[in-house]
Amino acid sequence: MRRYLIGILLALLCAFGACSRQDPVPAQPVLQDGEWTGTGEGRSGTILIKMTVREHRITDIVVVSQSESSFAQEAIREMITRAIKKQAILGDVDAVSGATLTSNGVIEAVNMAIRAALGQGDSGKTAYRDGTCDIVVVGAGGAGLSAAVEAASGGNLRIIVLEKQGILGGNTNYSTGGINAAGTEAQRTLGISDTPDLFYEDTMKGGKQKNIPSLVRSLVDHAAATIAWLSSLGADLSDVGLMGGSSVRRTHRPKGGTAIGPHLMKVLKEASAKSNVEIRTSNKVVGLLTENGAVTGVKVEDASGNTYRLSAKAVVIATGGFGANLQMVTSYQPSLSGFATLNHPGATGDAFSWLADVGGSTIHMEYIQIHPTAEADNHILITEAVRGNGAILVNRAGNRFVNEMDTRDVVSAAILRQEGGDAFLVFDQSVRSSLSSIETYANQHLLTEGKDIGELAFRAGLPSSAFSATMARYAAFQKAGTDDDFGRTGTQMTSPLQTPPFYAIRIKPAIHHTMGGIRVDADMHVLRADDSPVPGLYAAGEVTGGLHGANRLGGNGVADIVVNGKIAGRKAAEYAK
Ligand code: FUM
Repeated sequence: MRRYLIGILLALLCAFGACSRQDPVPAQPVLQDGEWTGTGEGRSGTILIKMTVREHRITDIVVVSQSESSFAQEAIREMITRAIKKQAILGDVDAVSGATLTSNGVIEAVNMAIRAALGQGDSGKTAYRDGTCDIVVVGAGGAGLSAAVEAASGGNLRIIVLEKQGILGGNTNYSTGGINAAGTEAQRTLGISDTPDLFYEDTMKGGKQKNIPSLVRSLVDHAAATIAWLSSLGADLSDVGLMGGSSVRRTHRPKGGTAIGPHLMKVLKEASAKSNVEIRTSNKVVGLLTENGAVTGVKVEDASGNTYRLSAKAVVIATGGFGANLQMVTSYQPSLSGFATLNHPGATGDAFSWLADVGGSTIHMEYIQIHPTAEADNHILITEAVRGNGAILVNRAGNRFVNEMDTRDVVSAAILRQEGGDAFLVFDQSVRSSLSSIETYANQHLLTEGKDIGELAFRAGLPSSAFSATMARYAAFQKAGTDDDFGRTGTQMTSPLQTPPFYAIRIKPAIHHTMGGIRVDADMHVLRADDSPVPGLYAAGEVTGGLHGANRLGGNGVADIVVNGKIAGRKAAEYAK
């Protein structure tokens, strides 16, 4: 009896928590270590943030891309400070007064990243079942949404976009410089004389003539109409900048030189919504469905881990490149071992494993572009447009060493030959004022600033006299319109770089773009090794290969995704009908 009473007492104690060692205490959700991304809609477009968690605490949040006004930048900084302080989902956090939309965008982006770090995924929790539609687009970046919007434009087709990430945009979210096109209204307004033929020549030359000519011809011939199409959807592409390897200014971007990617995604998301395109995030395609050699749909894994089959008359692969899959990168290009990447985490090249089932072929897989100017410590893309708007590069000895406006392969190789394999991107206030993207770098604390050239040299750790002599010599070249040292042309030297304050960013080349990929024809049919198209299968954007040859020109990546995304969407719609 006594033993029985003791048993009851112990049971009661346990019920009140005294036996906690054995109890299944509900686990508190903890932030998982790693880097997490999130997006939110600000006043002027998508705000993309990257959050770092170390030892289960948020240690850093950087804004990877945004296109808010300079007035709203302080609000972004303030909201991020609050997020780091709070270390949790931002409920009941006041917006910064006067910048409510921007603040809400930051809150939305941070909350998305926090939910991902807590393992709660995103909102895509619907468990889908087997189904059918007319066209499946795989990937919701710029190419995928361009394909979907164009395919929907003819009406009467059910289009579903499947995106494995929790957010839309892929590498398009990160793209900054702009979109190339020749013979546009914006160029005419700015007095820039350009033609598709000149665009063709530049692209072939930049690609070392390894490009597939029919793909280049199609790109240059469709690009101006594509700019007009984007403008009709609400895009602002009124500013035109210069990129390396282009004979004239043809890189279209929003007014003031704001980053193209977030703006483009905002426009394409709105157009997708208006066109009733269904987008399923956190739905990962794991293979193709086939029948008698034709593609008839996809196998999908949804956010809950269920798999289902989505049958379709046509499938467009727009999954992007493989620049975040370092194993794959080095298997094709061993020399890139140890390089950082500028790619979003989902750029893993999954689609290549689906090709064998349908006999699809690839081309130029070994052509992988490193971008010359990735910020050295945080691996953040510093757009080539900074050089296009006037900046120079100096090495650790304070000397220039290359024509900064040469093609990326040439400039990257030159940087890697310098001591430390890095360099400083140097510009003045005139360049900063001419390009809004630089404000993003300022917010990310990437700029070293000096009130004069001597102070900048001191702060950046450059030898003062050599650096001052370099700046004076460059100013003289700019004035004369001739660069006796490296052959930068007069039009490529837009500023004497003499307006204080002065700025420097330490940069180092990083993996940027995978130029090889699925072999396609100019109608974006996926091709077999014998050049026959795989029925029902199309591809567009960075997942394809051959357009850029051995070296892509800045601004041609975005041109590729929109021009060819659109073509793939139109051809898929024709096939489906
Ligand atoms: O430098 C950049 O803004 C990159 C542009 C591009 O790769 O097209």
